[in-house]
Amino acid sequence: MRSRHWAIRAAVPLLVAAGLVVPRASAASWNAAAPYQDPSLPVPTRVADLMSRMTLDEKLGQMTQAERGSVSNADVTTYRLGSVLSGGGSAPSPNTAASWADMYDGFQNAALATPLGIPILYGADAVHGHNNVVGATIFPHNIGLGATRDPALVERIGRAVAEEVSGTGVDWDFAPCLCVARNDRWGRTYESFGETPELPSSMATIVTGLQGATLNGPASVLATAKHYVGDGGTTGGVDQGDTQLSEADLRAIHLPPFRAAVERGVGSVMISFSSWNGARLHGHQYLITTVLKGELGFSGFVVSDWNGIDQIDGAPGTSALDVRTAVNAGVDMVMVPTAWRQFIDLLRAEVQAGRVTTARVDDAVRRILTKKFELGLFEKPLTDRSYTSTVGSAAHRALAREAVAKSQVVLKNDGNVLPLARGGKIFVAGRSADDIGYQSGGWTISWQGSSGNITPGTTILQGIRNSAGSGTTVTYSRDGTGIDSSYRVAVAVVGEPPYAEGQGDRPGSLGLEAADLNTIANLRASGVPVVVVLVSGRPLDIASQLSGWNALVAAWLPGTEGQGVADVLFGTVQPAGKLPVTWMSSASQQPINSGDGKTPLFPYGFGLTYAKEDSSPPTAPGTPVASAVTSSSATLTWAASSDDVGVAGYDVVRVQGSTETVAATSATASATVTGLAAGTSYTFAVYARDAVGNRSPRSGTVSVTTGGGQAGGCTAAASVQSQWSTGYVIQVTVTNTGTTSLTGWGVTFTLPAGHAVTGSWNVTMTTSGQAVTARNAAHNGSLAPGASTSFGFQGSRPNGDTRLPSGYACG
Ligand code: BGC
Ligand code: BGC
Repeated sequence: MRSRHWAIRAAVPLLVAAGLVVPRASAASWNAAAPYQDPSLPVPTRVADLMSRMTLDEKLGQMTQAERGSVSNADVTTYRLGSVLSGGGSAPSPNTAASWADMYDGFQNAALATPLGIPILYGADAVHGHNNVVGATIFPHNIGLGATRDPALVERIGRAVAEEVSGTGVDWDFAPCLCVARNDRWGRTYESFGETPELPSSMATIVTGLQGATLNGPASVLATAKHYVGDGGTTGGVDQGDTQLSEADLRAIHLPPFRAAVERGVGSVMISFSSWNGARLHGHQYLITTVLKGELGFSGFVVSDWNGIDQIDGAPGTSALDVRTAVNAGVDMVMVPTAWRQFIDLLRAEVQAGRVTTARVDDAVRRILTKKFELGLFEKPLTDRSYTSTVGSAAHRALAREAVAKSQVVLKNDGNVLPLARGGKIFVAGRSADDIGYQSGGWTISWQGSSGNITPGTTILQGIRNSAGSGTTVTYSRDGTGIDSSYRVAVAVVGEPPYAEGQGDRPGSLGLEAADLNTIANLRASGVPVVVVLVSGRPLDIASQLSGWNALVAAWLPGTEGQGVADVLFGTVQPAGKLPVTWMSSASQQPINSGDGKTPLFPYGFGLTYAKEDSSPPTAPGTPVASAVTSSSATLTWAASSDDVGVAGYDVVRVQGSTETVAATSATASATVTGLAAGTSYTFAVYARDAVGNRSPRSGTVSVTTGGGQAGGCTAAASVQSQWSTGYVIQVTVTNTGTTSLTGWGVTFTLPAGHAVTGSWNVTMTTSGQAVTARNAAHNGSLAPGASTSFGFQGSRPNGDTRLPSGYACG
């Protein structure tokens, strides 16, 4: 949402008066707002009105996106540019949220100073937080978010990112990457939520987080599903490579996340640098126009990637062929960071020569303008600075810490070395332990990322110190030297140095670098148990070292909130992360993916929890109540047990004196006992079990007499509701076990000597000596075959007499 700076309109008449710009509408009609300026009109009406006022050059400008470093405010006005972007690491100076907002407002005012005053869309890669801005909250890269398996958390992150982005003016986020990373050699694997189509599809919730409920809502930012399509499927995991797949496989593996994003109303889709079976995606009319816009019904606009159209003809630079092929394929906005003037000239010539139709240009411009109107940009074009203070706010950092903790995947934990205990001495080592840049990875402040204190945050080492508390000595040495056997445990925080697209591809080894291996060797030489925390954008080839490590945690690229890693190391938060990608046994297995039959080191979905010591058994289940008693079966139901860790299930036992035999087991508080003999009396009780096998005390008992299997017949099952030293309450369930309806029933039973019935309900009772006869009440005498009804009574007994009534029979 933009601020309510309507006053900007005043700039246009001033410029007109100064002769600097010439409005297309006549001066007379200008004062009366044109229909496109009327927010009460439907968006399509506004778009049509605005387009009817636009020249070809104004339309071509709308389709053009230039990089901030290659375009001036004056250029935006003169060339009627539709969009400006920040490439990775491209930021104003000083790099603060406020100066981003100033920069944005400068470009936006330049756009508003054009005759028609069409606002620009400013785009940036906020791919794990607003990562170009110093001081922004840096969230885990997508691979870590995939490990959380928590789409609602990811939606909340989208909302937080949108607030930070809005606070700097930026309207448009080149995120999420909905890539399905199939080969870990690919340097963009960490931009993927995971290797299965389902996982990135489920995380399309981030689109809703970024865009909000409506595009003109508070802090709504236009999202981009990228990179369409198959970017994560290239042969060898080569960035910008060739995805060699059948159409059926392309659709099954790589298309579903885009479908999910379109269903969530994603505003833009970015085309992939890669090819499909040798054909560049940037010129792929079938995939862009037929499938995406046609079949999936995508109504937003398509943006090309950074100089992406240049690769169409295979020759360097932007050619007429590049331009017409991309636009005719269905690209609506063209990211031409530096060569934007040339692009406009080439496209104009193609249109004038009839090789690109005006209808195609109009379709592209209509799509772009529709999103600008929907975003409310015409009404609120400038930065909403009420969000500027959310950049790096405590609330957003707390959310990031939560996400970091939920993304940790514990892969090995021999001897329960984790969670780390407090007290004593802990040794921490590794070049990723105390480095915000390393733990954040690529796309952080700079495009490829870098080491050091590049932006404020909490390193993993600081998190460990905070969690360990003052009673614990935490010693850090980068390379692991200085450790001795007086330490209780050593934590090696090692992994990959930052990288982004291209530079992150690893065609050779996928192992740890020598520096990291040496650090771990130094720790191991002390004999102290070693916990390895891997800070990496993907699984690494560690199988040959794993046996020497006591524990292993995949921390991914957690971002600025390293406390979340320590939260799991110390068990403040239970580990819950599950592998979003299959973990190779060796680099030679790449590509390795769930379901491909290869034997991984750790399968997709793997992740340990900390085994809890569980010595306390569940509470006793409630006394069972019988129903649906037939000649051979009875259903028992009881009040559930509780347990500190969790009830795993129940055992129903038949009680015969001191002998118990298990008659049924159940995961829920109900079971049907089958295989009973007709006309026989049974006594049952129930135990609860927890996961480690602790058994609860026994429940009260229920007595059941099975039916005789004849045409008419009924059973009476008594269950003790409560008892005390001088009495009891018993509920009796009567079931028609015959094949014809009952129109009245009677239950007889025997009271032990000295007992008396002191009250009853839903029944009429008569007593003769110790024999009791219970006849149905007026309302419960009719029982269809198989139907049940219940009555109850209270009895008294001599103090200390534990006996109960017996011999229930129904007739
Ligand atoms: C930019 C990135 C862009 C890359 C493409 C870099 O200079 O900063 O945003 O993705 O070039 O090559
Ligand atoms: C990347 C995109 C990014 C764009 C703008 C390209 O090099 O592939 O993911 O959105 O640059 O920075």
